[in-house]
Amino acid sequence: MSGNVNIDWSNLGFNYIKTDFRYISRWKDGKWDEGGLVEDNMLRISEASTALHYGQQCFEGLKAYRRKDGKVQLFRPDMNAKRMQNSCKRVLMPEVPVDKFIDACKKVVKANARFIPPYGTGGTFYLRPMVIGVGDTIGVKPAQEYIFCVFGIPVGAYFKGGMAPVNMEVAKYDRAAPFGTGAVKVGGNYAGSLYPHEEAAARGFADCVYLDPATHTKIEEAGAANFFGITKEKHFVTPTSPSILPSITKISLLHVAKEYLGMAVEERDVFIDKLDEFSEAGACGTAAVISPIGGIEYNGKLHVFYSETEVGPVTKELYKTLVGIQFGDIDAPAGWVVEVEL
Ligand code: PLP
Ligand code: COI
Repeated sequence: MSGNVNIDWSNLGFNYIKTDFRYISRWKDGKWDEGGLVEDNMLRISEASTALHYGQQCFEGLKAYRRKDGKVQLFRPDMNAKRMQNSCKRVLMPEVPVDKFIDACKKVVKANARFIPPYGTGGTFYLRPMVIGVGDTIGVKPAQEYIFCVFGIPVGAYFKGGMAPVNMEVAKYDRAAPFGTGAVKVGGNYAGSLYPHEEAAARGFADCVYLDPATHTKIEEAGAANFFGITKEKHFVTPTSPSILPSITKISLLHVAKEYLGMAVEERDVFIDKLDEFSEAGACGTAAVISPIGGIEYNGKLHVFYSETEVGPVTKELYKTLVGIQFGDIDAPAGWVVEVEL
């Protein structure tokens, strides 16, 4: 399809719109079919699909970026492909080969080129790959058939204001169990987070911070994003735990902080009662990019990091460098960006 779309590129939020094409491939009798683009955005699946009853599904999120020269690139799609393979393994679904995953993403970007926000607007094209268990299976067991689908939408900021501080509260609920599915991207983790998020929003917070499910003493996640803090000595610190989703943005920021900004980096426990070790804090993820955290409320007290209204200098530098790499303005480490032939 061609022609311009009537979109206010500079004021995009994070909302679904129907774009022109999506990619679909089906798995049956032990193999994926060739797959291809379709126009229909409705999936027709059996009422007995395991994805509907038992949450046998997973998803990914990655972005395509329009560069200054008009070309378009994906950011570390191989990392999302591999993480989706881990998710598939954990819920007994067939893995999508890395090449097939990247090819599907490229096809969706190319076919929806008119929906990719222009360079300089701050907008990006968000891709949502997923694998779902379908077919006629009513017992609690893996499906016999699967669908791998990728669609894409133009997006702006995930948190209101984008690069503006938001406050979060510590949830009194867990998003994951100690040996559960927290480290993979399956829908059940997110279903469980809807209620805590709603409660946090009703109290005026942008999202909630989840503590480790075993001891409730350490920070795990900041809503649907990883947490990082900057110490007074300017060390980049981010928590480790087997129930945190390994964020590709976080893994990239560890590299950016160390190799581009010359900072010391630490992956370790972050105790909720030791927040004053940080002079800045933030949430990072594909949708969130970097969202500065103004303050975290815990036990009825709001702990403010840098400021509730201003972004700290290190967070600003991290953001500038990461986004510069993603939009092609700053040279990327080998293999980080993959151009899409339009
Ligand atoms: N943590 C959770 C729970 C998420 O849903 C996401 C989003 O994907 C992230 C962290 C950030 O991961 P990434 O940077 O790979 O998008
Ligand atoms: C992402 O950052 O890609 C996410 O998946 C977070 C959220 C929109 C679910």
